Amino acid sequence: KDSASGEEVYFPAGCEQADLDSALRYTAKNRDVFVCSYPKTGTTWLLNMTWLVIHRGHPFPGFLRKSMPMLEFDGCEAAELIDDSEFPRCIKTHLPYNFVPKNPRAKYLYIARNPKDALVSYFFHIKGFASLYQTEDPDINKLYDLYMKGEVEFNSYFDHINIWYEHRNDPNVMFLLYEDVKQDPRKEILKIAKFLGEEYESDLKAENGKLLEKIVELSSFKHMQSANIWVSTENKRPKDLPFIRKGKTGDWKNHLTTRQASDMNQALKERCNESGACHLWDK
Ligand code: A3P
Repeated sequence: KDSASGEEVYFPAGCEQADLDSALRYTAKNRDVFVCSYPKTGTTWLLNMTWLVIHRGHPFPGFLRKSMPMLEFDGCEAAELIDDSEFPRCIKTHLPYNFVPKNPRAKYLYIARNPKDALVSYFFHIKGFASLYQTEDPDINKLYDLYMKGEVEFNSYFDHINIWYEHRNDPNVMFLLYEDVKQDPRKEILKIAKFLGEEYESDLKAENGKLLEKIVELSSFKHMQSANIWVSTENKRPKDLPFIRKGKTGDWKNHLTTRQASDMNQALKERCNESGACHLWDK
């Protein structure tokens, strides 16, 4: 709970109030780059692309979280850890918009994904982290009900998208879609670069787009799945459930019933109507 606003947020297993307190203690700095999302919508992908753009194609050393701290999940000391880290820096967060520290001169990238695919990905995420979630055999139907009610980590996905979408035209916000990155990674990487600074964009385009091609390759599904650097517990996961799992759009068709899919479409229509986010996946 944010004691100042009274707003509450469901936290991942293993996180506690002190983690949120430390996140809320952090003051956003002028050149901070926040990579924001709801879980399982392509966060790691966006973090990787952002890092590669900022670091001109040099992959981060070691585990992702060492290079890119997570605001609300880094051992109750995120605020201090981030303050001690060097610029340029990327900060990961799943916090809903209202909880994210704001600074007009910081930048905020947000990635959204079709909620049906995000839910399926979340289901496999729970399966892959069985000991953390204390369940060997999660039930997708139960998860679906909780997801629709927003009784899952970081509250309702619909609310999460809505508010970020309302801010999509803020000068320091870039709103991306997982599906667009899948369709045309070059275009989306160039957009990210331009948003981060003209100098990044021109570097990517130089020498016939050599750097751009390198980043496309290093952020491809194949490359990312073969690298074992995304989560520190990767080695403890079942072999058939890597953290970078399937990377497809439309996998929901293999896991949700027709009824569940249409109820979710309807919920998206109703709950994201005012912001217009209900139309994000019309095509
Ligand atoms: P799936 O479980 O559907 O495969 P997050 O990083 O927010 O947890 O999101 C994880 C999802 O993004 C997983 O989806 C993962 O496979 C997908 N993903 C990660 N890197 C990707 C890439 N390079 N291309 C496509 N999908 C990717």
